[in-house]
Amino acid sequence: MKLRISLVVLSCVLSVLTGLLLSRRSSDAVTNLNGKGKVVIGLSMDTLKEARWQADRDFFIKRAGDLGAEVLVQSANGDDGQQIRDVESLITRKVNVIVIIPHNGAAMAKAVAMAHQAGILVIAYDRLIPSCDLDLYVTFDNIRIGEMQAKYLVENLPQHKGKIVRIYGAKSDNNAFLFKRGQDNILKPYIERSDITVIHEDWAEDWKLENAKKIMNAAITKSGQGKNFDCDAVLAPNDNTAGGSVQALNEEGITGRVIVTGQDADLVACQRIALGKQSMSIYKPIKQLATKAAELAVNLAAGKPVIANSATNNGQRDVPSVLLDTVIVTKDNLAGTVIRDSFHSYDDIYRDVPAKQRPPKP
Ligand code: BGC
Repeated sequence: MKLRISLVVLSCVLSVLTGLLLSRRSSDAVTNLNGKGKVVIGLSMDTLKEARWQADRDFFIKRAGDLGAEVLVQSANGDDGQQIRDVESLITRKVNVIVIIPHNGAAMAKAVAMAHQAGILVIAYDRLIPSCDLDLYVTFDNIRIGEMQAKYLVENLPQHKGKIVRIYGAKSDNNAFLFKRGQDNILKPYIERSDITVIHEDWAEDWKLENAKKIMNAAITKSGQGKNFDCDAVLAPNDNTAGGSVQALNEEGITGRVIVTGQDADLVACQRIALGKQSMSIYKPIKQLATKAAELAVNLAAGKPVIANSATNNGQRDVPSVLLDTVIVTKDNLAGTVIRDSFHSYDDIYRDVPAKQRPPKP
């Protein structure tokens, strides 16, 4: 089957946004590649080991199910070879559209080519797949997330000055570079004026908690143990790496003395925020992302046009993209964000906070 996707750039009269219309015009594109008479979507995931990805999966399946589609889920446990085999298996099972959350974006370009050869469209979910003919990208505004983290850090340093540790995410994940780019946008003038000094920085392979902890341990060895740790803030890119940082600070008996950022609003992170052990996280309305992605996948499978609100250059083409906004979560707005959206319950978040110190239940 020949894939023919036309990308029409529409200028948007009322705003500066550019609307991109992606429509599939393929005679046999619609539902029946699999002979089941119903749309089947393949969801190939990097991992299910972090809490957020389980939520992504569940919301995605729910929305697709409501739209009458079936979802086949594969999780590669952070193994590129496995993720390629997962996509191969989805192709063999004749899914209509494949949604990929790549472990290593670069390695998945091959999977996109394989799917296209079989006439299957591919959506990258949350993480970009570079250097390939990707059809659609659905994600949060990742540069903005980095900016929000760094802005929070700067605003909460006394006189906007101090010493910081920078932990970056997995080098295999394009998002890690986008978060860093956003952070750099904010930090650059402060670093240039020497108002902010980076005392240690490193990349946490595979986003692992234990790797972030090792980075913090190295920072502590470098700049003073226990109360002598001469550092004001840790710019951690997500909650897993924030968790590793907090563990290292705990071992020094100095948790809560240092600003620690994060992202994902994982339950454990919200619990740390409630206890004052982590300063902030970024709440990504995963339900919105997963719901949107499921709707887009079903529409693509049915040959319906899809509107994107942005485009992302992946080194090969401007990929029509749908970008969603995120919200900062701190001790002060847990109720109005994650609890209000039932992302986590009040009882779960304040589980370890003594009753007298809890805010009133909303
Ligand atoms: C996601 C983050 C997540 C990280 C580790 C990134 O690509 O955007 O939400 O914490 O991967 O899984």
